[in-house]
Amino acid sequence: DQAAGRSQLLQGRRVVITAGGTREPLDPVRFLGNKSSGKQGVALAESALAAGAEVILIHAHMDVAPPRDAKQHSVDTALELRAATLSAAAGADVVIMAAAVADFRPSTVSTGKIKKRDDVADPVIKLVRNPDILVELVAHRAAQNLSQLIVGFAAETGDDEHDARSYAEAKLARKGCDLLVVNEVGPGETGQEKVFGRDGNQVEILSRDGAGPVQAAGSKRQVADAVVRVIAERLGAT
Ligand code: CTP
Ligand code: CA
Repeated sequence: DQAAGRSQLLQGRRVVITAGGTREPLDPVRFLGNKSSGKQGVALAESALAAGAEVILIHAHMDVAPPRDAKQHSVDTALELRAATLSAAAGADVVIMAAAVADFRPSTVSTGKIKKRDDVADPVIKLVRNPDILVELVAHRAAQNLSQLIVGFAAETGDDEHDARSYAEAKLARKGCDLLVVNEVGPGETGQEKVFGRDGNQVEILSRDGAGPVQAAGSKRQVADAVVRVIAERLGAT
């Protein structure tokens, strides 16, 4: 039956999805965070569940509740997200990195609350690089010879030299994932934030094999459904 077939695009597939924004501690009460709401990752989880997948949602900080039908791991930092994701990816057909992973973390975490004092200079925060989980997933897939589809997300801004699309294409090549879902961030025409925390989204899904980009716009759920369709096509083709 056609309709049932279409609604079960990911039947029997194990899909790992990361969502939300990591938080990197500075001291017991403070962290470096980012604006990710987790909405797009949760929409992806809902969409993959509706398509019949078994979903493992690994989420850092989110403004929204995770879907009940997904298996869940809650994490705070990029290093925790990495450990949970690499472990879950071992048995996954698809890994979707929708989380906003901090590129850097404070090089040391103060055990006591950092205090402001008039007799010492204001503190300077030293940062160190976090590992790139997406790049590690791609390397792990190659080393283990896994048949696995790996999907990245990118929020890009254009500048005077290059537009958002060309930065995204370079990122796709650098990361080595199969698909990169790209949205342009920053102030929209009305000066309002275009993506973070909003209910709608507009993306381009780029493929490493050079297949033409797929455009998707609408609610985050509609965008998620489009991503799931592209993923299902890819799985069907391999
Ligand atoms: N990502 C990751 N590990 C990191 C940073 C990012 O797995 N330490 C993943 C994100 O989840 C996303 C993709 O990589 O799927 C692209 O993230 P993005 O921040 O756009 O890329 P970066 O390589 O960090 O480049 P930029 O300097 O533009 O932030
Ligand atoms: Ca980054």
